[in-house]
Amino acid sequence: MERGTDIARAAAVLSAGGLVAFPTETVYGLGADASRDDAVARVFAVKGRPRAHPLIVHLAPEARLDDWAIDIPDAARALARAVWPGPLTLILRKHARVAAATTGGADTVGLRVPAHPLAQALLRAFGGGVAAPSANRFGAVSPTTADHVVGDLGGDVEYVLDGGPCAVGVESTIVDLSRGRAVLLRPGGLPREEIEAIAGPLVAADDRAPAAPGTLATHYAPRARVIAVELADVPAAVSAQTGRVAVLAPAAAFARWPALAAVAAPLPDDVAGMARELYRALRDLDAAEVEVIVAALPPAAGLGEAVGDRLRRAAGPRGT
Ligand code: TXA
Ligand code: MG
Repeated sequence: MERGTDIARAAAVLSAGGLVAFPTETVYGLGADASRDDAVARVFAVKGRPRAHPLIVHLAPEARLDDWAIDIPDAARALARAVWPGPLTLILRKHARVAAATTGGADTVGLRVPAHPLAQALLRAFGGGVAAPSANRFGAVSPTTADHVVGDLGGDVEYVLDGGPCAVGVESTIVDLSRGRAVLLRPGGLPREEIEAIAGPLVAADDRAPAAPGTLATHYAPRARVIAVELADVPAAVSAQTGRVAVLAPAAAFARWPALAAVAAPLPDDVAGMARELYRALRDLDAAEVEVIVAALPPAAGLGEAVGDRLRRAAGPRGT
């Protein structure tokens, strides 16, 4: 494993069918050439991810949507124009050039143009689409620093592009436009309100929505047990716990809870700051061997929808 900021080296690794972890504005991705089944197969192997769970294809700002998707609705073009580069993934009917392994056999593909300058430099130097899930092992919390990636994947990736901490901190919002209506598959780094202003009201995902691992009840989970409650219910939830507890809540709240000072894991008070720091905080609490995390749910507006979604999933029932 090499680590650094050498774009030419990272692009050469991709061209040789290797794996490159790279920063995006949301979280770090584990990238491979999206047109090569063999390269993409390694991503699934390293992540320990079921083969039927499709990967997002990352494109340079200059890429043409029509080279990667077919039957593109006007709403998709309008969204792409308005918010790319940015934290929105569009699900569209796939172009034949996308490797079957990338989409897990589905006839649709997830596309996004990331905003991070190093991601864009890599995509330009490579010249093709880069299939990339978040660069963590399956089911774990996404990485928001190069150190997280190295800790999770270490020797299984040829090159780690180090772009510092991610500015958004939660994964992209995913909107499915492949079947007529605009369906919100995953709230994320682009607030629903900004998407609806361009594409109209988003429909909630239902049983006909494609299976996606990010929609499993438990995902994005740290090792510690997570209890997600409304802010006002935090003190009561803490009293009900035994064992090593930490409280994840906006810093300002702890001024009202002097009794909780010893277990405080403060987050920024603004919801963008909360999103940015959330995964780092969960990873730090695991490293501190906390057993229970009592987390305050933010109001659902703006990025609060994504933060609340991730906290609820982290608090979901655990498999055996
Ligand atoms: O912000 C992000 O989206 C990050 C960065 C690296 O771009 N990527 C990311 O990838 O979160 P991943 O694989 O961890 O989550 C992508 C989600 C998965 O739940 C996957 O099932 C869904 O997108 N997805 C991808 N292609 C799809 C498709 N064709 N149809 C339905 N869901 C799809
Ligand atoms: Mg992921």
